[in-house]
Amino acid sequence: MTDAPVLEVEDLSLSFPTWRGVAPALRDVSLKVGTGEIVGLVGESGSGKSVTAMSVLRLIPREAVRVGGGSILLLGRDVLTATEAELADLRGRLASMVFQEPMTALNPTMTIGRQITQVLQRHERLSDVAAEARAQTLLTEMQVQDAPRVLRSHPFELSGGLRQRVLIAMAFACNPRLLIADEPTTALDVTVQAQVLALLRERARERGTSVLFITHDLAVVAELCDRVYVMYAGRIVEHGATQGSCGGRCILTPRRCCARCRSRDSRAACWPRSPAPQPPPRTARPPVPSARAAPTPTTAAPRCHLSYRHAAIWHVRPRAG
Ligand SMILES: Nc1ncnc2c1ncn2[C@@H]1O[C@H](COP(=O)(O)OP(=O)(O)OP(=O)(O)O)[C@@H](O)[C@H]1O
Ligand SMILES: [Mg+2]
Repeated sequence: MTDAPVLEVEDLSLSFPTWRGVAPALRDVSLKVGTGEIVGLVGESGSGKSVTAMSVLRLIPREAVRVGGGSILLLGRDVLTATEAELADLRGRLASMVFQEPMTALNPTMTIGRQITQVLQRHERLSDVAAEARAQTLLTEMQVQDAPRVLRSHPFELSGGLRQRVLIAMAFACNPRLLIADEPTTALDVTVQAQVLALLRERARERGTSVLFITHDLAVVAELCDRVYVMYAGRIVEHGATQGSCGGRCILTPRRCCARCRSRDSRAACWPRSPAPQPPPRTARPPVPSARAAPTPTTAAPRCHLSYRHAAIWHVRPRAG
């Protein structure tokens, strides 16, 4: 990360006023995404990943949320104090977002072509003909077969994988500097997921787009991301590079794990063989703590965030050879 970061979140604290009182969602969250970097954000359900992502583009209505402190700098602009006009310029043109469920992200009443050309015309003031040609190119780049037919279709006429390719094509339409992908492939089957992820990485790398990639899938993080942040109960509890001296086999806590890898055989360090590690019994795990309960050592202990690291060790299998 040599240039100034594309995204810099510093000590962001945020809560939701609810009828049962104020529910803290983010506590002193700090993260950075550098130019051209693909950064993962993982964590248990309810840990605050989507709230972090939506806060970056200020997609949560002001009246629904209370910012307790901190700052968000997107390409050097302060998102928390930006005017609606400045935000409209940031969204889509400089930073865009891909959501988990493409059916709800696309407008069901408009053709795909109209939805893509609208984005292009809003930000780049292209003529109808030029916008249509660009829309077709964008879909072809996402390896969409028969792009003219897809442009004439409504979202319900397309498969989930195709809809997600359309959304990613739209997200890249104006060559954004930052793409935020919130579990973009969770709703897809494994084969389609792999294709869509490969395309996303290819597009991001060739355009130098930075990506904040939210997922539960640590294997995807190991494959796709340069660095990863781990969230737990509204906090960033760990971060590190995905490719350490252990060759990417252990993806978290390089300061702890890779230090060991350097001194011993990396595979043995990351993959203890004897005695064979056993995953904790599922029934013994207590539920995710409520957002209202501040994570003290006592509330956090039963579901220690390191469970994610243990999960990494379990789920990120070393590649053959
Ligand atoms: N509009 C809202 N009003 C009140 N609480 C909210 C609101 N949106 C989110 N929250 C709370 O904020 C916390 C973080 O939610 P968030 O959606 O960011 O979790 P997440 O890590 O994205 O989970 P998942 O992996 O299931 O998508 C949760 O406790 C959630 O209930
Ligand atoms: Mg989420």
